[in-house]
Amino acid sequence: MTATSLDQSVLDELREIAARYPEPRSGLLPMLHLVQSVEGRVTPEGIQACADILDLSAAEVSGVATFYTMYKRKPVGDYLVGVCTNTLCAVMGGDAIFERLKDHLDVGNDETTADGKVTLEHVECNAACDYAPVMMVNWEFMDNMTPTSAVQLVDDLREGKEVTSTRGPRICTWREAERVLAGFPDGRVDEGPSAGEPSLVGLAIARERGWTAPDTDSSGAADGAPAEADDRVASQAAVEESDDSTETAADKDDAK
Ligand code: FES
Repeated sequence: MTATSLDQSVLDELREIAARYPEPRSGLLPMLHLVQSVEGRVTPEGIQACADILDLSAAEVSGVATFYTMYKRKPVGDYLVGVCTNTLCAVMGGDAIFERLKDHLDVGNDETTADGKVTLEHVECNAACDYAPVMMVNWEFMDNMTPTSAVQLVDDLREGKEVTSTRGPRICTWREAERVLAGFPDGRVDEGPSAGEPSLVGLAIARERGWTAPDTDSSGAADGAPAEADDRVASQAAVEESDDSTETAADKDDAK
């Protein structure tokens, strides 16, 4: 076991996470979130602690930590502010918001303000395009933003005002959010709706018009498309038969 700067209570919680899974290594992702909640980033000590507990190499843990964008190798501020600049948000104003915030905060992408309060980054689609342009603060949604409301948001965060996600939950610090992602609830799970109105418009229209999903048979094929399903099965059978004959010919060659 390698020495680590993490205290005993953190090591105990890392082991607690690993013990939740039939295969302890399945706990690596939440374990890395716990490291971030304590260290403010994924540190070499955190990587080594995870590796020791899971009987992995530090290189293996590091490979995971550097693959996913939610894991940070540089210190993150109190609030991780993400601006979606993926296609729909970009054309709806995401690019303008990002440019305005870089200028207002005097930081570039993936940089933290001098007071350590805000880390700014551009993020990919959050599957919240119906609220574009969207921002995230510590993984909570801020919907239908504008450059002006974005500036107000970061100013409020830096001044320590209570800020609420447009979907309900109060914004906590990044480290607190990371602890939740490690699987230690903060009791706020019921703050805010589970789905907003724009996300449910399609469902409302379907109900209004009496639309329902097609029934499926036991194979999962929808009623009304049996011929297509049969064609697919027949075609797959033909491919398998062809594979078998190829294998037989190869086997014969080997046998010569
Ligand atoms: S493009 Fe921004 S949430 Fe989908």
